[in-house]
Amino acid sequence: MLVMVPPHPLIKHWISVLRNEQTPSAIFKSAMAELGRLLIYEASRDWLPTISGEIQSPMGVASVEFIDPRDPVTIIPILRAGLALAEHAASILPATRTYHLGMRRDEETLQPSVYLNNLPEKFPEGSRVLVVDPMLATGGTIVAAVDLLKDRGVGSKQIKVISAVAAPPALQKLGEKFPGLHVYTGMIDPVVNDKGFIVPGMGDAGDRSFG
Ligand code: PRP
Repeated sequence: MLVMVPPHPLIKHWISVLRNEQTPSAIFKSAMAELGRLLIYEASRDWLPTISGEIQSPMGVASVEFIDPRDPVTIIPILRAGLALAEHAASILPATRTYHLGMRRDEETLQPSVYLNNLPEKFPEGSRVLVVDPMLATGGTIVAAVDLLKDRGVGSKQIKVISAVAAPPALQKLGEKFPGLHVYTGMIDPVVNDKGFIVPGMGDAGDRSFG
């Protein structure tokens, strides 16, 4: 499994805003969206199908390359917090389709359950999928999400996970189950506490974004 923490000062900046307990909800949510924009930009490098040709500019003929609109990237935000991280996905990628996945983690058992799933029964062959969730803590949620995609014909090599903060338990589970997966994260933090929160992390990204 490939885990990328893109070394960019803007990513560090938005992570710092997110970590700060004084950051108000509206700023937290927009910082998460900016971080998502940068991580999706990095993750989509060398991953987007293009079509090339020639076009007439005002000054002459130019060779051009466009993103192929016939092969959109699938965006899957995991509700709720994934909505904030995925907010700019459809504006930086010229061709996307979005499916929502609502997952809730039980506060006691830390087991995830699905409360909303509008994924298609079968994804088109060769689909490229971005699964977007700010926190990979125990890893239960993201493993369940990738399993749902596998059931619908998406192999782990076709999936990139976008997260703000990832912790070792989640990365270990993902690496063991899905060696072909790529994970793009703003940071890796060392600890998940007994309540399932990443330390130092950024607190509860869903609550901080949506109340
Ligand atoms: C949080 C987070 C992840 C999950 C991570 O969601 O956004 O989806 O927990 O935990 P795990 O790796 O231990 O499974 P939460 O259940 O709090 O829902 P929310 O986004 O609606 O707040």
